[in-house]
Amino acid sequence: MTHKIIIDTDPGIDDAMAIFYAALHPEIDIVGMTGVFGNVTADIATRNAIVLAERCKQTIPVAKGANTPLVMAPNGVSDYVHGVEGFGTMAAQPITGKPLDEPAHEFICRMINENPGEITLCPIGPLTNIARALQHDPSIAAKTKAVFIMGGGLDLGNVTDFAEANIWNDPHAADIVFAANWPITMVGLDVTTQVQCTPADFERLAKSTPVLGGFLNEAVQFYFDFYASHYGERGCHMHDPSAIIAITDPQYFTIETHALEVIVDGARIGQTTRSADPSRPKHKVPMGVDAEGVKQRFLSMIETGF
Ligand code: BDR
Ligand code: CA
Repeated sequence: MTHKIIIDTDPGIDDAMAIFYAALHPEIDIVGMTGVFGNVTADIATRNAIVLAERCKQTIPVAKGANTPLVMAPNGVSDYVHGVEGFGTMAAQPITGKPLDEPAHEFICRMINENPGEITLCPIGPLTNIARALQHDPSIAAKTKAVFIMGGGLDLGNVTDFAEANIWNDPHAADIVFAANWPITMVGLDVTTQVQCTPADFERLAKSTPVLGGFLNEAVQFYFDFYASHYGERGCHMHDPSAIIAITDPQYFTIETHALEVIVDGARIGQTTRSADPSRPKHKVPMGVDAEGVKQRFLSMIETGF
């Protein structure tokens, strides 16, 4: 079965891992990417999505999306985690293609309407573009095959004790997305923090696949520096690739179902919680993971590259 996916992204070092995995997977067809602010600005995210597609030698339509949250003032980009240009200490990478003229939310709606029941959305950044798409055309909810989100967490935060970065960067958008009646799998910190990789993993990739693995190995050093200073260990969580792997390999995950809502103000802003509101749809929430299985799946997929 081929999964037609649109990746909504803020590349971002782990975004690059996710996009390379998806590009190499024989059963994934990346039919579009959309850039959103988060780790970097929307302009840099959009350019970096094109950088990653071109490095994979794929022609993928890329649309630029939101540079600010729906309601609140921006928190500011996470350049201290991903680097000023998004890929660690690497300078801005040149591109030959250019973004579509169509804004991201309109591109998402058009693609879903042209392919009803076939498109899987994979947001791995703040959910602003996805919420804007729902606001632009609420009918897309019933026509989307699935939505696999990297974001949130029921019992964990990373930017605060309560909130995960993608949700914290636009909690109002995230709440709109979780309130919609479409089949969401929220791949959150509950599982992504269990999937950890080491410098040796990326050295292996740099040797076996210099173009793709070498790029990741260079970019990830800055991410490792952040983890070393923040968590005291040189390694990193594989947030965004875990969300894509959940599409193709659900067997690695133990899944619960919960109605979800997002706290949009106060000390717990950006927290994803179980909702008691009976009008809210239930979504899939992986709470357990075969972490070694997911990591090896990622590494072996990148090793099919070049
Ligand atoms: C998420 O936030 C971003 O920094 C990462 O790319 C990932 O999407 C993890 O909290
Ligand atoms: Ca991301």
